[in-house]
Amino acid sequence: MALLEITKLSKHFGGLAAVSELDLQVEEGEILGLIGPNGAGKTTLFNVISGVYRPTSGKIIFNGEDITGLKPSMIAKKGLVRTFQATTLFDEFTVLANVLIGFHPHAGIAIWGALVGTPATRQREAALVQQAMEILDLMGIAHLKDELATSLPHGHQRCLGIAIAMAANPKLLLLDEPVTGMSREETAMVMATIRKIREQKGLTIIVVEHNMRAAMGLSDRMVVLNYGRKIAEGSPQEISENPEVIEAYLGAERYAA
Ligand SMILES: Nc1ncnc2c1ncn2[C@@H]1O[C@H](COP(=O)(O)OP(=O)(O)OP(=O)(O)O)[C@@H](O)[C@H]1O
Ligand SMILES: [Mg+2]
Repeated sequence: MALLEITKLSKHFGGLAAVSELDLQVEEGEILGLIGPNGAGKTTLFNVISGVYRPTSGKIIFNGEDITGLKPSMIAKKGLVRTFQATTLFDEFTVLANVLIGFHPHAGIAIWGALVGTPATRQREAALVQQAMEILDLMGIAHLKDELATSLPHGHQRCLGIAIAMAANPKLLLLDEPVTGMSREETAMVMATIRKIREQKGLTIIVVEHNMRAAMGLSDRMVVLNYGRKIAEGSPQEISENPEVIEAYLGAERYAA
């Protein structure tokens, strides 16, 4: 059975069908690229899968369990974790502190109360710090642990965003535009890191990405949305040659121009 099975999923905003009758399956261990022109419904789909929005209709089965309509915190606990299109870091905290907060996404800052105190809590702190350092090492930013999040270059900030998501110990990670707006070097670094965490942690990943070269380079398989509907599905090669996909993108460009 697929790790994620979405059936006839729709999300309407008033009269607008942002996601429409979508069927989607994601197999364990794959990197699925989700692409489509601006406004195609990619972020809305992430919001519905991760519980930020309740779907108008349809069903979401994750790891054999129906998670449709559950709260984001419940869904994250089950191992389905997302990052956001805009980086959401605790700017005035260090890199290490950001990951520590990631261990307790729902307790928020309360963790700091627990960290000062008895030997038992200090021992727990040491274990958490070690786990956080392992994640930072995996993401290639361990050497930046004492820097303030806000002082990092864009590429490293996005890596920190993924590190925070990793702290929640995901089975399925939803990445919303991890390399959009990055330099070529930053893009290469973040792509290599995403591949590495898939290999080393056996993660399943859905990645939304506007940088087409990056999306094609990362994905085992791709799904294309347009106006909330799935218009194509296949290997990066098949997608790059699909006339309907080319038309959707050219059409969007013509519209923008
Ligand atoms: N909270 C909301 N209320 C009303 N309309 C919304 C809301 N969120 C998204 N939409 C609309 O739903 C459609 C899909 O938006 P969405 O943000 O999911 O697209 P996207 O594929 O992520 O686009 P982009 O590539 O620009 O990030 C758009 O028409 C958008 O204006
Ligand atoms: Mg979006």
